[in-house]
Amino acid sequence: MESMIQTLPTQYRWAAELEVTEMPPAGSALVCGMGGSGISGDVAAAAAKGPVFVHKDFGLPAWAPSLPTPIVIAASYSGNTEETLSAVEAARSAGLPIAAVSSGGRLSELATDEGWPLISVPGGLQPRAAFGYLAGSVVRLIEAAGLAYETGLDEAASITATLLGEGLQGPGRRLADDLAEELAGRIAVLMGSGRTAVAAYRWKTQINENAKSPAFVSVLPEADHNEVEGWTTLGTALRRTVGVVMLRDDSEPPRVAARFQPTSLLLGGGATIVGEVWAQGTSRLARLASLAVVGDLVSLRLARMAGVDPVAVDAIQQLKQTLGES
Ligand code: F6R
Repeated sequence: MESMIQTLPTQYRWAAELEVTEMPPAGSALVCGMGGSGISGDVAAAAAKGPVFVHKDFGLPAWAPSLPTPIVIAASYSGNTEETLSAVEAARSAGLPIAAVSSGGRLSELATDEGWPLISVPGGLQPRAAFGYLAGSVVRLIEAAGLAYETGLDEAASITATLLGEGLQGPGRRLADDLAEELAGRIAVLMGSGRTAVAAYRWKTQINENAKSPAFVSVLPEADHNEVEGWTTLGTALRRTVGVVMLRDDSEPPRVAARFQPTSLLLGGGATIVGEVWAQGTSRLARLASLAVVGDLVSLRLARMAGVDPVAVDAIQQLKQTLGES
């Protein structure tokens, strides 16, 4: 998995250099996908200037056909994910235009047979390790449809390369090691807001899948209206059990930024505040990528400390087999 993470800058550059010509102009996009593929929709929505929505479920939302000139973008690394294929079927039945991002499977076959725009990403990786290929491809599709501000993919590549460094020895690794030391043996709570909430979700899923550990996301300002109450009566009971990492961006709206410190004081009553990680870069995508890569490194360090294999996802595979997906 470490060698896969090291290829992230190459993945962003690959996506930056793609020729995307056949995308119809759209007034909105609905990105459908699950897990390591589905997060590419969240990333694209964060980089979008027009309405880009994300759907992580079977079928389509009832309102999908009412979107302004919509395009449905199906993202599935394997191409065989049941929910994503079901969304594609629903889009086809509703007569909506479809584009796809995949490394193969049924989704690639369908896209080829039907003549839908298809970005074929390189295969052979775990979907979550293909983050740059998948997110980059979806961002390029929404750009080609006229819905993105700027892709920021070249900047995402260079910032990620700097943070990773040669042999994963860059500054991101040092930061990740320090955070992982504190998080080890604790349940991580990743706090973010807006764009950084997308990064927080990537941290959570990477800690789940790579380190085989539970992790949760807390989103501001919403958490200030409910979750903060949940921490007030714990005393020190959970302090050894829960570690909070705040993912920050200095372009947060001031009223959101003002909430992190008082919220962390409330959480600090019950949980250990492990630290803050700040986004770097200029473009939306690079800032998100700079946070995401540190989370990747934290998850790998946690996996090493726990003695678990970060690549294997036996529980996910077992569930897919039980449910009849290949
Ligand atoms: C596995 C992983 C999963 C998959 C998910 C959907 O590395 O990250 O979250 O991404 O089960 O499968 P795909 O991506 O093939 O559609």
